[in-house]
Amino acid sequence: MHLLIPAAGSGKRMGSSSNKLLLEILGLPLLAWTIKAAEQSQQIEWVGIIGQAYDFDQFQNILDNLGFSKKYQLIQGGKTRQESVYRGLQSLPSNAKHVLIHDGARCLATPNLFDRCSEALASCSALIAAITVKDTIKVVDAQGFIAETPNREQLWAAQTPQGFSVDLLKHCHDKGLALGWEVTDDAALLEKCQIPVKIVQGEETNLKITTPVDLAIAQYILSERLG
Ligand code: CTP
Ligand code: MG
Repeated sequence: MHLLIPAAGSGKRMGSSSNKLLLEILGLPLLAWTIKAAEQSQQIEWVGIIGQAYDFDQFQNILDNLGFSKKYQLIQGGKTRQESVYRGLQSLPSNAKHVLIHDGARCLATPNLFDRCSEALASCSALIAAITVKDTIKVVDAQGFIAETPNREQLWAAQTPQGFSVDLLKHCHDKGLALGWEVTDDAALLEKCQIPVKIVQGEETNLKITTPVDLAIAQYILSERLG
C-alpha cells in the first residue's frame, strides 16, 4: 500500500508561528508520531510526505531519527490541502494501484487502522475512516439561529485514512480542479462525482490536532499508551 501524508499546512488555528506538525509531544515532533504509526503498519510499503520546502530539513531529521525503514519521498505541497494531495498523487510511483491519504495532523491513528483501511480496499475503491458523533449537531443560519437538527444516527465524523483506487482519485481531483470545487477532504470530491464511498470504523482517539487543547489530549493519550 502507498500512503500520502499531507503535512504542508501552517497551523493557523493552533496559533503557532510555524508548521504545527513540528510542535513536540512527549519529546517528539507531532509528525514523528504519525510517521511512526505508518512505519508499524504491516500493509504500508511506501510513504510520500507532502510538505513545504522550508520544512524539508526538519522532516528529513524526523525520518533519520526514527530510523524510518520504508521507502519514502518528500513531496512539495501546495497552498491548500486539496492542492497538496493533488501534487502528492502526481508523485506516486507508477505501480501504485491504491493509495491511503492520512493527515499528518492525525498523529494518534494506530497501525491497525492503516491495516484495516488497506485491507478494505481489496473489496471497494473508495473508503474513509469515520466514527459516529457524540454531540447533537445543529445547522445554524447566518443570523445565529438554529435552522435544523439532523438525525444523529445518520451523522458520522470523517477522519483519515481515506483510501482510494489511484486512477479514481486522480480522476476526481482533475475534475475538481477543472470545475473549481473546493473541499476539505478527498471523499468530498468523490461525493461530488457521485461515486460511492464506504465507511470503515475509525477510532475515537484518532483526533486531528487542530487547537492547543488537542495537543494536551494527544499528550495524555500517548503517555497512557506508553504506560
Ligand atoms: N495541509 C497540507 N497542505 C496545505 C494545508 C494543510 O498538506 N496547504 C495538511 C496539514 O499539514 C494537515 C492536514 O492537511 O496535516 C489537515 O489540515 P489542517 O488540520 O487544517 O492543518 P493546517 O491547515 O496546518 O491548520 P489550519 O487550518 O489551522 O491552518
Ligand atoms: Mg487547514
